Amino acid sequence: MKTQQLVEKKNFVTVKDLDAQNAMKLINRAEYFKAGGAVEKLTQPVYVANLFFENSTRTHNSFGMAERKLGLTELPVDTAHSSMSKGETLYDTLLMLNALGVDLAVMRHSQNGFYEPLIHPQPYQHLDMGIVNAGDGNGQHPSQCMLDMMTIHEHFGHFAGLKVAIVGDIHYSRVARSNMEMLNKLGAKVYFSGPSYWYDHQFDAYGTFLPIDELVGQVDVLNLLRVQHERHAGDPNEKSFDTEQYFAKYGINQQRYDAMKENAIIMHPGPINHGVELAGNLVESPKSAYVTQVQNGVFMRMAMLESVMRGRNLGGLK
Ligand code: CP
Repeated sequence: MKTQQLVEKKNFVTVKDLDAQNAMKLINRAEYFKAGGAVEKLTQPVYVANLFFENSTRTHNSFGMAERKLGLTELPVDTAHSSMSKGETLYDTLLMLNALGVDLAVMRHSQNGFYEPLIHPQPYQHLDMGIVNAGDGNGQHPSQCMLDMMTIHEHFGHFAGLKVAIVGDIHYSRVARSNMEMLNKLGAKVYFSGPSYWYDHQFDAYGTFLPIDELVGQVDVLNLLRVQHERHAGDPNEKSFDTEQYFAKYGINQQRYDAMKENAIIMHPGPINHGVELAGNLVESPKSAYVTQVQNGVFMRMAMLESVMRGRNLGGLK
């Protein structure tokens, strides 16, 4: 039997430092777990805290499931009732959890790059725990990105030459930033579409912006993005936002769905705004990978957590 090549990381906060080779190792490991491959038995307990300062259904519970499957022990932390309400810093909060014996923290926070001070402690600072980014502002969403890559790989078997369109509220999206980066590294051709006011020309370096009706018939993957109203405070386009207009101009309706290639898929990180990015009756349609993405997320998060445990020799993993 071929020995699996495994990834070792001290922290997992971005896909910027993940090359194509290591991305493929993680995808292979996640596919191994999905196929029923055994997890390595831990020889010492590993304690993990899941700290979500923004709401989540998929990511929070997916990490929770992945942790249980790997044999980790979760220390439940109620972020709404922590001493951060008294002004304690994020760093001090993590330092205290670390002192209590927590080895790993999975964290979501609205502040871009919240993890920087946690992974680069200053002189006299002693925080020493693995940090896994479950989404920072509109910065990065590495676990969503890697489960999306797994879903594409599972369906097509390769990335080279695939055409992937990232569609929608790109400016505010951490999923878009992570996915465009990794799709480029893996050899897929990236396109963008949606409202031009939510597109930044800095993304031109990763792909080509085109109207949705020029793209639906030629791409292999439509990677739809949620319209993230909670991030639109101060955005001049929020006030005039109209659901029906958005759906008509940029959403995937039956006509656009029918124009897609036979083997093409629709991905959406969720939660979906039914009838905005995608028609409600198409959410579970044959070309929709929405549920598969969530299923794959558990196995990819197992692979990602394992890579950090291995990088830190936690639980006896080397
Ligand atoms: N895709 C995603 O991050 O979903 P949640 O906000 O439900 O975790």
